[in-house]
Amino acid sequence: MVGRGQKLRCPSQLKARPLNPKTPMKTSFKPSLKLATALLATLLIACVNPPANDYQPQRGQSGKDVIWVPTSPELVRRMLTMAKVSSQDIVYDLGAGDGIIAITAAKQFGARAYGIEYNPQMALHAQSNARAAGVEQQVSIRQGDIFEEKFDEATVVTLYLLPHLNLKLRPTLLKMKPGTRIVSHAFDMGEWEADEKVSHEYAHAFLWVVPSAVQGTWTLQEVDSKAQVQLEIDQSFQRIGGSVTEKGRKTPLLGAELRGDKLAFRYMGLDQQLRSITAQVSGNRMQGVMTLQGGQLPIEATRR
Ligand SMILES: C[S@@+](CC[C@H](N)C(=O)[O-])C[C@H]1O[C@@H](n2cnc3c(N)ncnc32)[C@H](O)[C@@H]1O
Repeated sequence: MVGRGQKLRCPSQLKARPLNPKTPMKTSFKPSLKLATALLATLLIACVNPPANDYQPQRGQSGKDVIWVPTSPELVRRMLTMAKVSSQDIVYDLGAGDGIIAITAAKQFGARAYGIEYNPQMALHAQSNARAAGVEQQVSIRQGDIFEEKFDEATVVTLYLLPHLNLKLRPTLLKMKPGTRIVSHAFDMGEWEADEKVSHEYAHAFLWVVPSAVQGTWTLQEVDSKAQVQLEIDQSFQRIGGSVTEKGRKTPLLGAELRGDKLAFRYMGLDQQLRSITAQVSGNRMQGVMTLQGGQLPIEATRR
């Protein structure tokens, strides 16, 4: 306890004070103990909650493969909304910059978010921004090269790179789990056309849904009747076409669509009835339903 009117001294003052043998050890010791406790507490707080990283990145500063320019908060929000990001998602921002995309994905959309950033100071700065935003438990920014680090667990990948870097990443992105959403600020993926686009002021962003690989010849059968047709699918990214061959008669697929692992098409049967197929693809198998005259029949298909 510090007595009334007694000032708490800093350690230097305490040292300079002449040692009076009449002074009880208790009175001179108590403030030191209090100070030591306060110092220890400050140290502990600093360890648990380190001071904000004071690195100040400059717009346009060089990066390994591309300079740093941040995506605007509103476009980030629109990009993540377009990708339908939710608490079920694992978002990876490749070239994370100050962490704005990963932090927004966590804070506003509830996702688990990672950033890969080559510049070590920038990576620390982004992690510090995540801490300041109160989402350090959900956001992890790691220093690394996007062309070397793994991100295959992502359900959503965001990019703000350059056209040739998008093309370099494209084969890796296309091998990701069907249904994974890719969102790129400003730059496209060459002939892999975007599924959706969003804009804010003069900035644009594109969305792709990684399609299942469905190219090939399939045997499609009605589960109950075992009636079979041959299904031929041609594929270019998510664009598909093809035909159904039934008892030697070939008819084109109508309105064929593929979004992630969801396939849909119609065809005219031999009986001149329009059949509508929706199916979920899993490797060399698909399962779904055929809608015929308002009724639904289970179907399955295997790739030959
Ligand atoms: C245009 S900024 C985009 C930042 C952030 N994604 C955003 O949209 O606000 C690109 C970032 O990628 C980083 N970068 C460049 N080449 C990289 C590489 N090979 N691996 C990881 N990060 C890289 C840069 O340092 C920069 O921070």
